[in-house]
Amino acid sequence: MNIIDIINRTKNKKELSEEEIRWLIENYTSGIIPDYQMSSWLMAVCLNGLTERETLCLTLAMRDSGEILDLSGINGVTVDKHSTGGVGDKTSLIIAPVASACGVYVPKMSGRGLGHTGGTIDKLESISGYRTEIPFSEFIDIVNRTGFSIISQSGRLCPADKKIYSLRNATGTVESIPLICASIMSKKLALNADCILLDVKYGSGAFMKTYEDAVKLAGLMESIGGKAGKKCRAVVTDMNIPLGNNIGNALELSEAVEILQGKCRNNLYDLSMQLTAEMLNLAGKGSVEECRHMAENAITTGKAYDIFKETVSLHGGNLKLPEAKYKYEVRAVHDMKITGIDSQEIGMVSLLLGAGRISKDDPIDFTAGIVMNCTLGDCISVDDTIMTLYSSEISDFSETAYRAVKALKFCRI
Ligand code: URA
Repeated sequence: MNIIDIINRTKNKKELSEEEIRWLIENYTSGIIPDYQMSSWLMAVCLNGLTERETLCLTLAMRDSGEILDLSGINGVTVDKHSTGGVGDKTSLIIAPVASACGVYVPKMSGRGLGHTGGTIDKLESISGYRTEIPFSEFIDIVNRTGFSIISQSGRLCPADKKIYSLRNATGTVESIPLICASIMSKKLALNADCILLDVKYGSGAFMKTYEDAVKLAGLMESIGGKAGKKCRAVVTDMNIPLGNNIGNALELSEAVEILQGKCRNNLYDLSMQLTAEMLNLAGKGSVEECRHMAENAITTGKAYDIFKETVSLHGGNLKLPEAKYKYEVRAVHDMKITGIDSQEIGMVSLLLGAGRISKDDPIDFTAGIVMNCTLGDCISVDDTIMTLYSSEISDFSETAYRAVKALKFCRI
C-alpha cells in the first residue's frame, strides 16, 4: 500500500478498503506518514466526503489506535453522553448525578474548553481540590459507590484522534461530517459504555450551524455507534441561545448546583431532563415519559444533589466556589424586547473576560464569565440589568461590555 494511491483514490471519489484505512491510521499515528500527506488526504475527505462504510472503518481504526477501557468492574448498565459543544452547556454536571440517582452508572471522561465553547473539566476544576486525573481503579470505585465520576480524557485513548484533530485545526479540515463523526465516535467507543447518547447541537454557538447538517451528523453517528455494537441514540438540539443563564466555569458550576437543588427551571433544566430521559430509556429503564418523570423526581427528592456532593467529595473537592474580583452590570438604555442572542459572540466575550482559551495551553480565570438576566422574548425596562460581566483579571470592561451588547438583537418598545 502507498499513501499517494490512497490520497488519489479519495480525490477521485473511489472507496477505500478497510485494510487501506487501517494502514493509513496506523502509519500516521506511528509517524511514518508525514503531516503534509495526511493533510492532503484530510482535505480530499473534506471536499469529497467518505461513504458510511469508510466512516465506520475510519472510526474503528481510530478507536483501536489506543486503549479501549474495560468497564466490566462496574456493577451495572453504563451510559455515556456526549455533546458536540456549545455556550453555557453544563448539562453533563446535571445529567450524570440525575441518571445515577435513577439506577444507571455514568463513567465519564470529558475535555477542556477551546475557543468560544466551554469544557466540563474546566468547570469541575473551578471546585478547589477536585481531582480530574485519578487512577483508573479509583475512577471505577467512585462510579460503583455513587453512580458517576467525571475525569479528564486519558491520553491513552485514541492517540490517532489527538494527532489528526490538531492537524485538522491547523489545515482548515475541521468542517467535515465524516471526520467529525469518526473523531467523536472513536473516543466514545474507546470509553466503551453500553449505551451512548449524543447531543448534536445546531445554531450560532454550535459546530453545526444549520439544522440540516446537525441532522446528517446525528444520523451518521447513531448508525456508526449501532454498527459498532452499542445502543446509541442522537438527538438534535438548539444552540441558538446560551444554555441557562451563566457562562464561565465557576458560574456554570454554581448554576448546575442550583438546578440540582431544584431552585431553577430554565432551558438548561429542560434540556438536562430531556437528555437524561433519553439515556435512561436507552438503558431500558422505561418509556421516555416514565424516565423523564424519574429524572425530575431525582431532583425534587434531593437524591441527585446528594450524589453530586458525595462524588465531588470523593474527588477531593470543596464546593465553596471562587468569586470574581471585578464585576460590571450592563444596563438597558431604553425599554426593549430581546429578539435574538448571538451565542457564539457571548462565548467569545466570556473568553475575553478570561473564562476560555484561544490556544490549548492558555491559563484560565475560573471566576470569569457572564450571568445573563434575560433570554429570548423578554421585555426589559430602561436601567434594568441585562447581564453582569465578571473577571478577576480585567477591571476595564469597556470592550467586553460593548461586544456583549452587540451580541443581543432587540427592538425598542
Ligand atoms: N469534537 C471532536 O471531538 N471532534 C471533532 O472533530 C469535532 C468536535
